[in-house]
Amino acid sequence: MQTIRQLDALRDALASFRAAGESIALVPTMGALHAGHIALVETARLRAQRVVVSIFVNPIQFGPNEDLARYPRREMQDARMLTDAGADVLWMPPVEEMYPGGFATAVSVSGVSDILEGAHRAGHFDGVATVVAKLLGQVRPDIALFGEKDFQQLAVIRRLVRDLDLGVEVLGVPTQRDDDGLALSSRNLYLDPDERQRAVALPRALGIAARSLEKGGSADEALAQARDMLIQAGFEIDYVALVDAETLGEPAADRPMRLLAAARIGNTRLIDNVAVEPAA
Ligand code: PAF
Repeated sequence: MQTIRQLDALRDALASFRAAGESIALVPTMGALHAGHIALVETARLRAQRVVVSIFVNPIQFGPNEDLARYPRREMQDARMLTDAGADVLWMPPVEEMYPGGFATAVSVSGVSDILEGAHRAGHFDGVATVVAKLLGQVRPDIALFGEKDFQQLAVIRRLVRDLDLGVEVLGVPTQRDDDGLALSSRNLYLDPDERQRAVALPRALGIAARSLEKGGSADEALAQARDMLIQAGFEIDYVALVDAETLGEPAADRPMRLLAAARIGNTRLIDNVAVEPAA
C-alpha cells in the first residue's frame, strides 16, 4: 500500500491506475479504524480494482465545543490494518494540503442537513459535504463507500452527488456491531468500562422500538419507551426519531422507515439507527 500525503503524488498514482484501465473505489474515513471501516474496504475491493482509503480528521465538521482535539489518531495502526485489508492507497493529506491558505468555498446541502444531527451540530454537514466534495474531486472514484451508521450523512452525500452531477456511485454499507449490539465507532474508544456496558442500551432501545413498530405498535409509544430505556441507562438524549428511510422526512406506515437516535453517555456522544420495515 502506498501512503500519500501530497495531491500531486496522489494524482500520479491515480493516473497509473486509470492508464491501466482499472476502476477505483474511495473509502473516506477519519481514521481510528475498526472492523466497520475494514468492512467498507472489503466491500470496496469487491466493487473496484483499486481501493483508495482517505484518513483526514476534518476540522471544519467539528463544532467549537466538540472533540476535534481529542479525536483519536492512530496513523501506524491504521496503516497496518489497511495494508492487511488490501487497500492500494492511503491518502492522508495534512490540513494545509486540504485547506490551503485562501480556501474560501463551502458546500451546503439544505433540507436533509438541517434536521436531527444538523439541528444539534450547527455546520456539521456543511463541513462533511465540503470535504467529501473535495475528496471526490481529488480521487474521482467510480464508487465511494460510507457506513450506514452515519445514516443521515449518507443521505446528505447522496443528495450532494445527485445535485452536483458528480457521477460517482455512492454505496451505503451496513453498520458493523460488537457482539452485544453496540455499533462500532471510533468514539467508542472514549467510553470507560462502566459507560461501555451501559451504552448497549442504545441499540437495545432502538431494536425494541423497531420490533414494536413493525408489529403495528404506536410510534409515540415506541419512541417514548426507547427514550425511557436510554434515560434509565444514564443517557442524555439529543433525539430519538422515526423518519422515512429515503427522504428522512415524515414517516409513512407503508414505506421503509428508519429509527435514529443520538445521545450522550458521560462525555461521549453516540449515534445509531435501525431499519423499520412497514408493518405487515
Ligand atoms: O464518516 C466520516 O468518517 C466522516 O464524516 C467523513 C465522511 C470521512 C468526512 O470527513
